[in-house]
Amino acid sequence: MEAGYDILNVDAGTYDSWYWNHPPMYFEKGMYREFGKILKKEVDVPIILAGRMDDPDMAVEALGTCCDIIGLGRPLLADSELPMKIQAGKLDEIRPCISCQQGCLARLSQGLPLSCAVNPSCGREEETKLTPALCKKNVLIIGGGLAGMEAARVCALRGHKVTLLEKSAYLGGNVRPGSVPDFKEDDRHLIEWYKTQLGKLPIKIKLNCSADRETAERSNADAVIVATGSNPIKLDFGNKNHIYAAEELLLCPENAGKDVVVIGGGLVGCETGLWLKRMGKNVTIVEATPQILGGGADMCFANYDMLKDLLAFENIPVLCSTKVTAVDDNSVTVQSEKGEDKINADTVMLAVGYRPNAALYDELRGCGKEIYNIGDSRHVHNIMSAIWDAFQVAREL
Ligand SMILES: Cc1cc2nc3c(=O)[nH]c(=O)nc-3n(C[C@H](O)[C@H](O)[C@H](O)COP(=O)(O)OP(=O)(O)OC[C@H]3O[C@@H](n4cnc5c(N)ncnc54)[C@H](O)[C@@H]3O)c2cc1C
Ligand SMILES: Cc1cc2nc3c(=O)[nH]c(=O)nc-3n(C[C@H](O)[C@H](O)[C@H](O)COP(=O)(O)O)c2cc1C
Repeated sequence: MEAGYDILNVDAGTYDSWYWNHPPMYFEKGMYREFGKILKKEVDVPIILAGRMDDPDMAVEALGTCCDIIGLGRPLLADSELPMKIQAGKLDEIRPCISCQQGCLARLSQGLPLSCAVNPSCGREEETKLTPALCKKNVLIIGGGLAGMEAARVCALRGHKVTLLEKSAYLGGNVRPGSVPDFKEDDRHLIEWYKTQLGKLPIKIKLNCSADRETAERSNADAVIVATGSNPIKLDFGNKNHIYAAEELLLCPENAGKDVVVIGGGLVGCETGLWLKRMGKNVTIVEATPQILGGGADMCFANYDMLKDLLAFENIPVLCSTKVTAVDDNSVTVQSEKGEDKINADTVMLAVGYRPNAALYDELRGCGKEIYNIGDSRHVHNIMSAIWDAFQVAREL
């Protein structure tokens, strides 16, 4: 922040009052607009402003007051046709950047070529160009999360005859609960983008349809793509009905009381804890290992730093190297090097990871059809790996 004052050479007070009146989102849209506004008063050269400027209404409003030209970085990696789509009024056609930075910055920092989590062909467009399938197949896709939807989209684009079965009443899988917090709005847009794309393709989608081995065997499918996702890991603290998985609070916030202890300081625990705190709950995050978010090992460093800072900004106590040893009706008992302690809790949220839901894939192997397992049911990971997995299988099928 100090450096910011130097660069802008503006009164620190101006920036401070704006900053504290705008508690930061998790990389909010148009986050540099205030800097642009300050700069605009100081310089008489055109200002190009970037920083999540992919909301067209917000961008238009910023022109003239905060900047003269809109710069787009990551949104063009997600969808290089974004400007043309805005010009044509086809806003629902824009594949949204979700600011995860998993495919762009994180890959660069690992020495890998730049790409995009939601657009696997970014940076290798020629190599991954979709070609019509030589042999058109009946493809049955089981699971309507992002992996299933990406597989359906790419298979249909290549001319396969696709049926997608989803056991719940909704498409989107774990991204539905995951996108409930306001700072995950682009994940919601991503689900909507997939629904729009699937709606334009000749894909048979059946919701409320749980598939089993028989469903797959009796179908006329030549190939079955299993995309059945994951199940949350449960810890046994006895039969306590105030212990919830993150999804059960995200999709049903009224389940949360006033004092919430989050067990597990991974991405799901930290983001959901932040969301609960902003809803006015008293939140404590308890993490068994020495660092939350795995020390940033599996996240882009920028998102890791930001999320850690936001937890501190919201004064959320984070107890690392600490284990929950018991859950009672109104408290949890924790154990650390410092000894045993009790924390008030009328609600406990479990966020200790997910296991692949691969039972159906295991049952189907060897059934005489081509079988693939993609996304979290193959390896529990993230949005990028679900989409990339699906893209790879579907473009080669
Ligand atoms: C709360 C939360 C927040 C998250 N936040 C992020 C994040 O910020 N960034 C990120 O990269 N990742 C995040 N993740 C992880 C990410 O959501 C998953 O990696 C991704 O959704 C995996 O996609 P998938 O399609 O493989 O599985 P899922 O999304 O789990 O979808 C599987 C689908 O299969 C359906 N299904 C299961 N069995 C059957 C059956 N027998 N028949 C028919 N349908 C079936 C399920 O109902 C579900 O809709 C989050 C996860 C959670 C839970
Ligand atoms: C993969 C990647 C590489 C970047 N490299 C640089 C850089 O070398 N120098 C720089 O000033 N900004 C860099 N940036 C920041 C961008 O210029 C831009 O300010 C930022 O991405 C915000 O805009 P956006 O939301 O449109 O992506 C980079 C951003 C990304 C995603």
